[in-house]
Amino acid sequence: MANPVPATFSTRANALLRKNLTFQKRNKKTNIRLTLFPLIICIILVLLQNLVDNLLDKPKFKCGCVCTTNQTTCSDSEKVCGVKYSDQTQVLACAIPNPPEWPPLLQLPGSEPWYPPVYTMLFTADDHYFGQIVSDNIFPSNVTMDYTDIMASLASNVLGSESTPDTNNFLEPAFTSDLPIYYLQTRCPLDNIAFPEIYQEGTPQQDMESFTYEIAGFTVDQEIRCADGINLWRDSSSVINNELYEGHEDNPIVSAFDFLNSNENGFNVTVWYKSTNKGVTNFGPTALLRIPRSINLISNAYLQFLRGLGTKMLFEFVKEMPKSETPLRIEIASLLGVLFFTWVVLQLFPVVLTSLIYEKQQKLRIMMKMHGLGDGPYWMITYGYFLALSVIYMLCFVIFGSVLGLKFFTLNDYSIQFVFYFIYINLQISVAILLASFFSNVKTATVTAYIGVFGTGLLAGFLLQFFIQDSSFPRGWIICMELYPGFALYRGLYEFGQSATSGSNMGTVGMRWQDLSDSANGMKEVLIIMFAEWIIVLFVAYYIDQVSSTGSGKSTIFFLKGFLKKPLSSCKKLSIQRQESNVLAQMEKPDIVQEKEKVEQLLLEPTIDHAIVCDGLKKFYRGRDGNPGKLAVRELFLAVPRGECFGMLGPNGAGKTSFISMMIGLTKPTSGAAYVQGLDIRTHMDGIYTSMGVCPQHNLLWESLTGREHLLFYGRLKNLKGSVLTQVSSFCKNSCAINRCF
Ligand SMILES: *[C@@H]1O[C@H](CO)[C@@H](O)[C@H](O)[C@H]1NC(C)=O
Repeated sequence: MANPVPATFSTRANALLRKNLTFQKRNKKTNIRLTLFPLIICIILVLLQNLVDNLLDKPKFKCGCVCTTNQTTCSDSEKVCGVKYSDQTQVLACAIPNPPEWPPLLQLPGSEPWYPPVYTMLFTADDHYFGQIVSDNIFPSNVTMDYTDIMASLASNVLGSESTPDTNNFLEPAFTSDLPIYYLQTRCPLDNIAFPEIYQEGTPQQDMESFTYEIAGFTVDQEIRCADGINLWRDSSSVINNELYEGHEDNPIVSAFDFLNSNENGFNVTVWYKSTNKGVTNFGPTALLRIPRSINLISNAYLQFLRGLGTKMLFEFVKEMPKSETPLRIEIASLLGVLFFTWVVLQLFPVVLTSLIYEKQQKLRIMMKMHGLGDGPYWMITYGYFLALSVIYMLCFVIFGSVLGLKFFTLNDYSIQFVFYFIYINLQISVAILLASFFSNVKTATVTAYIGVFGTGLLAGFLLQFFIQDSSFPRGWIICMELYPGFALYRGLYEFGQSATSGSNMGTVGMRWQDLSDSANGMKEVLIIMFAEWIIVLFVAYYIDQVSSTGSGKSTIFFLKGFLKKPLSSCKKLSIQRQESNVLAQMEKPDIVQEKEKVEQLLLEPTIDHAIVCDGLKKFYRGRDGNPGKLAVRELFLAVPRGECFGMLGPNGAGKTSFISMMIGLTKPTSGAAYVQGLDIRTHMDGIYTSMGVCPQHNLLWESLTGREHLLFYGRLKNLKGSVLTQVSSFCKNSCAINRCF
């Protein structure tokens, strides 16, 4: 089957590609799993999203509506909706072109067991006299109520509520909750009546007033009670601090002021405010909505100190900015999807890894090498093949998701998604190639890889995500964690999910290229990390492969070869060896001595008349685990002329297999040299393979390929084309038994 023209790169690429495709086609289980997994995940997510959307499609989560027909149920056309028919939850969904105005309130601490409640403000100042005068102005001594303009009346009094403020002020909870609103004055009237005009003696609710008024289009039925507001002098701000810290059961403290060095020429004040209710921090920054009133109060008090009681800065109302309709939507697919999508993308990893290890375990790699498929073309074609496979897989995945309408895919810029997935799959293939050097068994590799895939997803979903969301966790550590490719993948998908969610909530788009400059967006780092790792891993993988593969004649530092000096004069060593063997020769049989002399002669005048020349080939297996070493081949001299058929016989353990293994590059000789067509087996195995055909002792076959397919593959590698190829492969036309030799 000798063919003088070695196959070109494209011929070999074609051979390997066709073989890979056939192999892939045969691997039905893997193919089905690869195709179905993303599809099923996408479908599950779509179903979940629909379920959540249905749940959210309840009046509870939508802008409030009432029926114009005065019935409880009515069709959509008979409904009027808007902020005034909404409760606290619903208002979030409403369009509010004209937000209501609410009187500014003080946040009052926990409710009082008796009536009238007493609310305290503490104050201190460098100048006691000044502080006293100013603080006396804080609370009015009586209530001013104008029933023709209740809004204005409410604003001109000091109002407070114990209710919990909301995250927004579209609906002030104080006016919608059952809790009363208190107006604070220096001393409540003795009869406890706030508004004598509407007080009716003998009503059970004599200590409260309830009246109905229109506020911002709402009809509010509000209970208003009087409360005593008192100011207490304290000697210093640290006393105030202690008192606030220890809490005051009897006199709940509304806020406290330190006038510092204020005087009639300047106003310098510290304000303490409360954002917890009964010690429970439950409204966080939102309580700030009720802080402006205390600042206004103290400023007014100072103004009145300067200009007299007639002056006043009226803080009339607070009002949110208008907003458009924002129906509540939970992008469950984007939130949950990150974990599932991580698995989907990671699925490819075991496929690439096991297929590489399979060829190694079955010694198919070396077999292909013997048939002239060198390392360069093998890796290029294999890499290209897995890249193409991954690209198709990812394309299908993104297309499935987009067609099913998952916001995760449709909202984010497709070009970012492409770049992200492309870099990642390249990194994944490189890592698989790197790891393939460390495994030699497909089963171990498969189990390890799948544990890795699912473990990575779970760890990322529960640990990495937790760290990302915890803003106090150092960013540097997150970047360190992202050096692990699986975590980098998760982070990237997480960012897509976040962008899709916020885009969907705000009715805008997801991630765009300009968003990458945002420091909160981890995508930029992830892309840089993955790209750098891809390049590094690729080189390391190629290097390790070169070092570990036999017959390439490369040492661990082969890339430094050019820089290192020649090893210690090899001639000298050679002559010493020669002397020793001469001594031995005296005891050897004459035909052996003759063969040895012939070899020595041939080496002095190199010709290519002899296909094989072995010069003192020696193989010594080092002892392991306490077993002694074994000399398998002892200085073999051999010269096989061209065109000669050479047979080698010997009892078991004579060293036949060891000799052949050295000749075909499976193992390296301990010492000595051998030349095939004038090429040294220690350094030029790649060249030797172009002229060598090997029929191995054991079947080196792809289990799922037929005999014919093997013949076609190796035939193509040997540059057989057209009718010759058909002829060769027709030996195996009708699914013949797999032939061991080609
Ligand atoms: C306000 O008071 C603080 C604390 O006493 C002081 O450091 C600061 O200089 C004062 N500011 C003015 C403008 O007086």
